[in-house]
Amino acid sequence: MGKQTGQQLVEKFDHTSPEQMNQPYAMYQAFRSQCPVGRSAQHGGFHVASRYETVKKIFEDYSSFSSTSGVAIPDHPYRMFPIDLDPPLQAKFRRILNRKFTIESVATKQAEIQGAIDHLIDGFIATGKADLAAQLVRPLLPTIVLPLLGAPIESQQQISEWIELMTRGRASDIEGVARAGEAIAGVLMTQIAKRRTMPPIDDVLGMLLDSQIDGKPFTDEDIYRTLLIILFGGLDTTSAVMLESLLYLARHPETRQRLVSGELSWPTAIEEFIRYTSPIQGLRRTVTGDVELEGASLKSGDRILGLHGSANRDESVFPQADQCLLDRAPNPHIAFGAGAHVCLGRNLARLEIEILLKTVLARLGDYRVADDFEPEYLVGEARGMKQLLVDFTPGLKTGQ
Ligand code: HEM
Repeated sequence: MGKQTGQQLVEKFDHTSPEQMNQPYAMYQAFRSQCPVGRSAQHGGFHVASRYETVKKIFEDYSSFSSTSGVAIPDHPYRMFPIDLDPPLQAKFRRILNRKFTIESVATKQAEIQGAIDHLIDGFIATGKADLAAQLVRPLLPTIVLPLLGAPIESQQQISEWIELMTRGRASDIEGVARAGEAIAGVLMTQIAKRRTMPPIDDVLGMLLDSQIDGKPFTDEDIYRTLLIILFGGLDTTSAVMLESLLYLARHPETRQRLVSGELSWPTAIEEFIRYTSPIQGLRRTVTGDVELEGASLKSGDRILGLHGSANRDESVFPQADQCLLDRAPNPHIAFGAGAHVCLGRNLARLEIEILLKTVLARLGDYRVADDFEPEYLVGEARGMKQLLVDFTPGLKTGQ
């Protein structure tokens, strides 16, 4: 990075560029040491915060750093609930939604998740090779989240394709993103209207149809905007952690063995995989009043990107931050965010990741990744691997 000053580096910073997505961490380190709050000139200009304490503070202090103008840079063409709200309204949404995402509630999905994973592995286990991104991880997540939300079965495949386009195409294909958004809206709005006329069903959609905030039931539009973020939140993020963990375990057979033997604790290991991956590298807030942050002056209306990906590699909080240490404790990572908006789906994500990793280790026990494999990352809000090509000793389908 030569002699460029920190601010010069930040000025050119574009979190949506493929180069930045592929290799984000050296740049973050330079930001943290040279310019912890700087200003990028990209995407119409925005501030960038990189140190753990500052990023955490931004996400915890919703009255100074608001979500109501959106949490993405560049902007989404539509608003979603509760992510684009501030407390107290956001907290009222969360009180309702949290009920379906407690540890106990998501544990009831265990057999369903296991069945979906086994079914996908059955599709390729006899061949001895697979792209674990395209054949296992990416097709898996919609099959878990869409039924939970009450999406019609016949539209589930199509909806996941539209979502893929929306999360990947934001910077390059604004029109395509808008069209996919409208298509999803069409399917979900039709389903919401239909469910109003049907006997109640115990899923997230059923719960929203049956709930009120301040004595007012949700409109179809409110429900649609809520379903949409649960869909978005649950796919690319979780798949990114799964793929990063699978790659790590392929490259560290001794660690793999320590997990299988029970020497390492699964929950501790999974938190570390999540910190190390940090699928959401950064999110936006909008400054509500003039404020000083690490020597930078921010004005009301300015946008700031808090970098979770950088905060989670801050050496002052995480010794050997660039290492994935599966027994790391304590591990106060903020990969699930911080403050009021802390991830709604985190218990589900942890469960999905654990079942997936355990099943791959049990069924594709000796899977290998080519020595020269260099992961490439997709551009989107979640930093996820494009491909993960592996080979392994062919095995039998479940029940064979
Ligand atoms: C490893 C996987 C995941 C990661 C890293 C992740 C990350 C995050 C982060 C950083 C936020 C905070 C947003 C903000 O501050 O504005 C968030 C919120 C959210 N996440 Fe996740 N997420 C994951 C999995 C999931 C899953 C599985 C679901 C649902 C099925 C989900 C649904 C949501 C929703 C609805 C919100 C908005 C909550 C609110 O605004 O109050 N996420 N997530």
